[in-house]
Amino acid sequence: MSVPAIAVRNLIKTFGETTVLHGIDLAIEPGRVSCIIGPSGSGKSTLLRCMAFLEEATHGTISINGEMLGFTEDSKGRRERVSAANNRAIRAQLGMVFQQFNLWPHMTALGNVSEALKTVHKMGRKDAEERAMAQLVKVGLEGRAGHYPSQLSGGQQQRVAIARALALKPKIMLFDEPTSSLDPELTGEVLNVMRDLAAEGMTMIVVSHEIGFAATVGQQIIFLDQGKVLFSGSPQEVFKKPRNPRLEQFLDTYLDRGASMLL
Ligand SMILES: Nc1ncnc2c1ncn2[C@@H]1O[C@H](COP(=O)(O)OP(=O)(O)OP(=O)(O)O)[C@@H](O)[C@H]1O
Ligand SMILES: [Mg+2]
Repeated sequence: MSVPAIAVRNLIKTFGETTVLHGIDLAIEPGRVSCIIGPSGSGKSTLLRCMAFLEEATHGTISINGEMLGFTEDSKGRRERVSAANNRAIRAQLGMVFQQFNLWPHMTALGNVSEALKTVHKMGRKDAEERAMAQLVKVGLEGRAGHYPSQLSGGQQQRVAIARALALKPKIMLFDEPTSSLDPELTGEVLNVMRDLAAEGMTMIVVSHEIGFAATVGQQIIFLDQGKVLFSGSPQEVFKKPRNPRLEQFLDTYLDRGASMLL
């Protein structure tokens, strides 16, 4: 088997007295779309944030394309911090898109996408803007490069956020409910950009309540419940013949909302 794009081993995350993730084991395969589904509060965002090292795991390990992120852990569970420089290089393989687009309001779409290229990657203005423009074209926003966030719809803002992440040339893209703050009619344009990205073979991990997207684009479905992976498998296994009662209950809630038409 190839090296997983992300391997999570016995990941435990506690906040104070509360354990939110209870020993997660997962292998995310490269070049595929993995969707994480599960009830509110089940730990989906926390898991994604640990994978991106926006949160430090309490125990366990995460490796990105075979390299340990954050901490190494020996067989006795002794942890050692990965050097800051190595960790930065490993994290640079990840791009992240959130529910809130977090664009800089005082910068145009082009400015938002090119900023990190100039400041972090030290690219010259012309090269940075060329690369940024190419990404805006890719998400269908070539005509909006000079617009400020306040002049863009929610769907357009989220596409700028995706272009901004892609401009940094990540190997893996993590999405945390990228369409949850959008009106239904704007959700489609963002999901279409994500579909195109999947078709190009980008490794993607998507936390989403869009069961239709998970069913049609997801290749691996991970069902998280109360901080545990209750199921991981193909969409067919999840949606056609769910065996786990908690998963069935969850699907009933969502499929009732009409998503079954998409399956
Ligand atoms: N920084 C934090 N401090 C304390 N508790 C936290 C923190 N972040 C998350 N939690 C708790 O961890 C649990 C899991 O939260 P998380 O946001 O990961 O759930 P989720 O599955 O993403 O939910 P949703 O579908 O509503 O986004 C919740 O009970 C939440 O209150
Ligand atoms: Mg969440």
